[in-house]
Amino acid sequence: MTVTPKYTAGELRSVSPFRYPGGKAFLSDFLAAKLALIKGRSKHYAEPFCGGAGAAVILLKSGLVDQLHLNDADIRVYSAWKAMLDEPARFVDRVHSVSVDMRTWQWASEVVNKSNLKSYDFDLGFATFFLNRTSRSGIIFRAGPIGGYNQTGNWKIDARFNRTALGERVHWLGSVRERITLTNEDGLTFLHRSLIRVPLAKTLFFVDPPYVQAGGRLYLNAMNEPKHIALSDILQNPKLRHWVLTYDDHPLIRSLYQAQNIENLGVTYSLQNKRKEREVLIQPVSG
Ligand SMILES: C[S@@+](CC[C@H](N)C(=O)[O-])C[C@H]1O[C@@H](n2cnc3c(N)ncnc32)[C@H](O)[C@@H]1O
Repeated sequence: MTVTPKYTAGELRSVSPFRYPGGKAFLSDFLAAKLALIKGRSKHYAEPFCGGAGAAVILLKSGLVDQLHLNDADIRVYSAWKAMLDEPARFVDRVHSVSVDMRTWQWASEVVNKSNLKSYDFDLGFATFFLNRTSRSGIIFRAGPIGGYNQTGNWKIDARFNRTALGERVHWLGSVRERITLTNEDGLTFLHRSLIRVPLAKTLFFVDPPYVQAGGRLYLNAMNEPKHIALSDILQNPKLRHWVLTYDDHPLIRSLYQAQNIENLGVTYSLQNKRKEREVLIQPVSG
């Protein structure tokens, strides 16, 4: 069976405050069906490479999971999530009061691209969110602002910055704070720790790591070949029973997961040229 996106990215961006290049919100129905196969109540759902966590927040909001475990190794992405979850009122205030113009974009770009911060910082989190909402295709690394540097394009910098809608999304996240655990670990460490940290029998892991062959620098890529191999060892540990993995269609991945179910996944990226990337969706044969 080939899994094809049922929704356009635009239709499903409406729950996560992020726009994410290659975001997987469109898989939420498919993941919901996977969750339904897990017996028992109070299901958990974990994303070791969460990015914008598009599918995760939809599943939480629709009541299909009780507990989310979100992890991202990028301190900028982590700070944005932590700022929204731990300081939602301050974040919402900022969403309503910030000037959505080139001056703030330059500030955010400076903070995000030049910061040496290694631990949580509210401004770093807000700047990451701001850049994500105001840059082309939601790319936070070195992408220009929507509308161009001179703001002469048809769409202007504030085209994706609907203060009311974004404020509501962040407010809602704050209201479900106790149902979300957030970590800033390497994805492999996160999975190793999950073996003892989460109830494995009722947890679905959705794993969406950076591509083996990255097409461009869309987000942090803290993976390399040995780590892709190590990830396949962890996922194929029989203790991890319920998982879904997406990857680029690469010979290394076909070989590492040859014992599992591999299907094609049609994804139209929300990048400007709408290029088609070949991606695969992998599930354990026993899953
Ligand atoms: C493909 S994106 C995930 C997109 C996400 N599924 C969505 O729908 O928005 C990959 C994410 O992994 C993060 N990342 C990169 N290397 C990592 C690592 N070694 N451990 C954990 N996270 C990592 C990046 O910061 C990025 O946010």
